[in-house]
Amino acid sequence: MVKTWSDRFEEGLNPFIEAFNASIHFDFLLLEEDLDGSIAHARMLGKTGIITLDEAQKLEQGLEQIRLEASKGNFLPELSDEDIHMAVERRLIDILGPLGKKLHTGRSRNDQVGTDLRLWLSRRITILDVDLKKLQVALLIKAERHLFTLIPGYTHLQRAQPLSLAHHLLAYIEMIQRDRNRLLDVLKRVKICPLGAAALAGTSLPIDRQYTSDQLDFLDIYSNSLDAVSDRDFTVEFTAAASLIMVHLSRLSEEIILWASEEFSFVKLTDRCATGSSLMPQKKNPDVPELVRGKTGRVFGHLQGLLTMIKGLPLAYNKDFQEDKEAIFDTYKTVHDSVQAMTILLDEGLEFSVDRLSEAVTSDFSNATDVADYLVSKNIPFREAYQTVGRVVKLCIQKQILLKDLSIKQWQEINPLIEEDIIEKLLPEKVVASRVSQGGTGFIRVREELEKWRVRII
Ligand code: ARG
Repeated sequence: MVKTWSDRFEEGLNPFIEAFNASIHFDFLLLEEDLDGSIAHARMLGKTGIITLDEAQKLEQGLEQIRLEASKGNFLPELSDEDIHMAVERRLIDILGPLGKKLHTGRSRNDQVGTDLRLWLSRRITILDVDLKKLQVALLIKAERHLFTLIPGYTHLQRAQPLSLAHHLLAYIEMIQRDRNRLLDVLKRVKICPLGAAALAGTSLPIDRQYTSDQLDFLDIYSNSLDAVSDRDFTVEFTAAASLIMVHLSRLSEEIILWASEEFSFVKLTDRCATGSSLMPQKKNPDVPELVRGKTGRVFGHLQGLLTMIKGLPLAYNKDFQEDKEAIFDTYKTVHDSVQAMTILLDEGLEFSVDRLSEAVTSDFSNATDVADYLVSKNIPFREAYQTVGRVVKLCIQKQILLKDLSIKQWQEINPLIEEDIIEKLLPEKVVASRVSQGGTGFIRVREELEKWRVRII
């Protein structure tokens, strides 16, 4: 067995502890970033004269050979390698002999793992931003199709006022834009390079940290070596931003699940994204939004787990930090997959039932505010108008009719200032069209928003 540790160690690890200690089964995911980080480090060692340029070049070639072997499935680390950093170094020494032993000059796994994880995450954040943009596009395409489709708007899940369906969908585009902005803000702090902090205190060797940072496309370097190796704020910031993405996806999921129910029947699920029941032949289940809603919990869990893992740690590196990898990897995968699933669901998994929606908005009292506003336009104080309409609604409920069923004569008995035009004002299309205040659901406002988003995201 090849010895991993210095000559200070005489005995091998207890096999259970060896497995308990290892992270290679999950941090193998960092391979690309570990190779990139090591190549930048090797080049820096050559440039500063800590090793010769020729040696630096051979190290780089050896590292590229490992990349090639891995791409063919021929780089297979073992448990005894402990983690991806040791596995790469060991293979490099196999390939290059003693020269391979020069790679770790002026660096520690503590700054190395921080560099790898930050590189890995910054690349994934860029992918997530693209995923989210695609989801916005899917929402926008649906919104553009449904500018004039009306949907009941709710507060307290009670019918409140009708809306343009486009307005409802645009609300999610707004939320997702904030999610994207948050991720890009987190990215600024992920892209800070800890490499060169070494174990905790820096190094006596004449390294050039700015050079490695630039090679790896970081925005800046950490100013304090202790902070560099023990800062995991960025993992918390990322999982917090990811949690809010999942909150938004989960709320949309919940709406779709409700809308697909017999009781609402606002959407029909297509066969592309729905599943059946193994027992009840009539069923068509909204598994995709249910899974997205369900997966939200694991991302929240990772956020809590990371906060708790970090909170009691003295400076600087502690092995506890090894626990951050699975949280970050799983958070990324969960969000990436969920955003894609929702995009597919919107693209091809559901259709709004336009007839049912138009029936829904004509069969309730969601135009009651508009009667009050009408009275306000006749100079009646709002609170008085509000009370009057409350009495009218009560009367209608007793008679089992809607506001639209009242004749002009009945309206004038309620208030003689009411004129013929009230009838038209109560039509749901008119109700929606009238809400032209900034950010309102009036069609002209929503059309402006659709145009704004089309320019911004397509
Ligand atoms: N696998 C370790 C981690 O993920 C790498 C750093 C180990 N450093 C150490 N001093 N044991 O944190």
